[in-house]
Amino acid sequence: MIASMQTRFPAGFVWGTATSAYQIEGGRFRDGKGESIWDRFADRRLMSESGDVACDHFHRWREDVALLAELGVNAYRFSTAWTRIIPDGSGPVNPQGLGFYDRVVDELLENGITPWLTLYHWDLPQALQDLGGWPERATVAAFERYAEVVSAALGDRVKHWITQNEPWVSAHLGHRFGMFAPGARDWGSALRAGHHLLLSHAKALPVIRENSAGAEVGIAIDCRPSQPRSEDPADVAANHIYDGLRNRWFLDPLYGRGYPEGAMEAVVPSPEVAALLNRAEDHEAIAAPIDFLGLNYYTSKSVAAGDEYAADQDRPAGTDQPAGFTEMGWRATPAVLTDYLIDLNDRYAPARIVITENGASFSDGPGPDQLVHDERRIAYLRDHLAATSAALNAGVPVGGYFLWSLLDNLEWIHGYRQRFGIVWVDHRTGERIPKDSYDWYRSVVTTGTLG
Ligand code: FCB
Repeated sequence: MIASMQTRFPAGFVWGTATSAYQIEGGRFRDGKGESIWDRFADRRLMSESGDVACDHFHRWREDVALLAELGVNAYRFSTAWTRIIPDGSGPVNPQGLGFYDRVVDELLENGITPWLTLYHWDLPQALQDLGGWPERATVAAFERYAEVVSAALGDRVKHWITQNEPWVSAHLGHRFGMFAPGARDWGSALRAGHHLLLSHAKALPVIRENSAGAEVGIAIDCRPSQPRSEDPADVAANHIYDGLRNRWFLDPLYGRGYPEGAMEAVVPSPEVAALLNRAEDHEAIAAPIDFLGLNYYTSKSVAAGDEYAADQDRPAGTDQPAGFTEMGWRATPAVLTDYLIDLNDRYAPARIVITENGASFSDGPGPDQLVHDERRIAYLRDHLAATSAALNAGVPVGGYFLWSLLDNLEWIHGYRQRFGIVWVDHRTGERIPKDSYDWYRSVVTTGTLG
């Protein structure tokens, strides 16, 4: 990818960073917060480290907003923890929990930063999990009420909403591979969860629009654009199913096409699940127009026969990676981003695409002078922003870019070793130290060029 000196982003482009509640907040028991499936997952020691303290953003949020202000971004994507606001998921509202986000939103606005609020970034209330969680339809109604409560409280000031973050991860890593909370291993549960996650998005849409005049509402889909490893028909067929399950499964229904044929037939385990996935009234709701499609993009996938049902990981996470890979074991493939943005635009003609996450994990730490030199992260970001700009030049309506992430935070089951932040966090003391990428990104967002 050639990072052209002339790369210039349009005026009005949304520049932000992204975080999520469980990954940064900590404050697990503070002010009446309830237990989420990730608290339980960590307690069961299914991950090496927990989010009990995380970046202690619950206490340090003013300092973090100051970091955003100093960075010069015009937007910030964060998620609200359902369990802070409705501790048991469906019962009484906790005013203290709402108050926390109320203060964060006001502080952002006072600093000229537009809040982009994600309602669900994987932290389902454990009380709802005890009733069956996302595989059960009742969870959709509970989410709709949660959306009602949050948008009624904050909708006068929050005008950008993301309903669900990465439904594939919640559904499949959480219910098929057992790798993420709640740790189930069952195809039927994964498919039911995925359907209800999409339906919950659909049910929240009109509620948010009602409570937040002029709101823009979208959903963040994580895509792994894929290509067959060779022209061998077995690889081509495998890729068709992989792409159907991993990408088109969530995109097609949002644009009125139902679940992708081929992928459907390959996986649906029972007539009951098939009947759920084919409910016409659900699909009608899911296809309601959205204001933007959120794309979370990190890497792409080359698919060979046998990879149809694969999980994400090509290489194990760790510091020992070949050139071109981040420490998550993800290959950097910026050119694919340009092609994929063009392809998404051709296939679905979304009103707007916003890159709701993109970033890289590298563990470069502070030297004796407290400077943090993360050239590899800067190279990754520059290449992906150049790729985004190339798509813009090709006519794709890309409206914004959220860098993952502001802070080194809890990278789910990988704990604190995987560092995605442009700000280093010392997890023993909570100290924040901006990295070189922070200064670099500041010059990008303030000039609209890649320099
Ligand atoms: C995405 C998640 C986000 C973060 C990044 C690295 O899948 O949405 O929380 O973990 O990956």
